[in-house]
Amino acid sequence: MPPGVRRFALAIFATTAVALTTTVVASAGNGGFLPGEAHSPNAHRVHSAFIFVSIFTGIILLAVEGALVLFIVKYRRGRRPRTAEGAQIHGATRLEIIWTVVPVVFLAAIGAFIFFELPGIADAPKAAAADQTRVRISGRQFYWQFTYPNGAVSIDHLVAPADEVVNEDITAPTWDVIHSWWVPDFGGKYDAIPGKVNKTWFKAPAGTYAAACYELCGVQHAAMNATVTVVPRAEYDSFISKRASGGIALGQEEWQGVCMGCHRLGHRYIGPDLKGNSLLADRRGFELLLRSGRGEMPSVGRDWSSAQIDALIAYTKQFASSGGGG
Ligand code: CUA
Repeated sequence: MPPGVRRFALAIFATTAVALTTTVVASAGNGGFLPGEAHSPNAHRVHSAFIFVSIFTGIILLAVEGALVLFIVKYRRGRRPRTAEGAQIHGATRLEIIWTVVPVVFLAAIGAFIFFELPGIADAPKAAAADQTRVRISGRQFYWQFTYPNGAVSIDHLVAPADEVVNEDITAPTWDVIHSWWVPDFGGKYDAIPGKVNKTWFKAPAGTYAAACYELCGVQHAAMNATVTVVPRAEYDSFISKRASGGIALGQEEWQGVCMGCHRLGHRYIGPDLKGNSLLADRRGFELLLRSGRGEMPSVGRDWSSAQIDALIAYTKQFASSGGGG
C-alpha cells in the first residue's frame, strides 16, 4: 500500500472507531445498548438474560474482529509478489479442539442460564385470587381493546392494580390481522394472533408505562400506541366498576383510539373528513357502519356490545352538525 493510501485508510479507521465509541456514549442512558428499565419480575429476568448473553457475544465479537484486524495487518502482502503462496498447513489439532470446545462451552452456559430463567419469565408467580386480575388484550386495526373481569372495556388505555399479578390474555379477533403487544418496561413482545390466546403477565409498581404494536399490521400500525396506568387496588376497582356501564369516558376513548386512528375533523386523513357527518348522531346507521365496515374501512366495532356503541355515539353526536368543534 503506498504511504498516501495507508494514511488515508488509517484516518478512516480512526474516525470510524471514534464515531462508534461516541455513538454508544451518546445513546446511553437507556436508548442505547441496554434495554429499558425493568418494572416487572419477568422483565428483570429478561434483562439478566440479555446481559448474560451479551457478555459471550461481546467476547466473540472482540475475538473475531480482533483476529480479523490482526491478520489483515500481520499477513498483508507487503512487498511480496501477487502470485506468492502462503505456507501450506495441514491440520492444527490443538487449534481445532479449541475452536470446537470453546463454542460448545459458551452455548452450554447460555442454554443453561436461559432454561434457568425461563420458568420465571413465562409462569406467573402463584398468588391468591384476591391478589391478581386478568385482562383480555385484543389487538385490532388500529386500536387496543382491554376487557376486565367484570366486563368493563377500555381502549388504548389499560388500567391495572399495582404490585399484583396481572395476567394478560393477548389475542385478536378472527377477522383481524396479527398485532404484537409490547410494553418494554414489562419485558418481551407477545403476538396478538387472530383466534389464538397468548398468555403473559406482569407485576408492576404504580406508574405509567408506554405500550405499542410491534407487528406491521396495516397503514396505521405506527398509531397503535397505548398506555398502561398502574394504580392502587382501590383506584383500579373503582375504575372498572364505573366503566362497567360504558359511559361518555369510554365513548371518548373509542373516538380517540378507534375513529381518530384514520379520521380527522375538518379535513381528510386516511379516511374521509368526519366533521358534520350526520352518521355520528344516527344510532342505526353508525352501528351498521361500525359493525360491517365500508370500502376501505374495517369493521372496527363488529363485536362491540351495544353499551360500547351507545358510549361512542353519546360522544360523537356533538360533531354531527357542521358547527361541531374539532
Ligand atoms: Cu397493530 Cu401494528
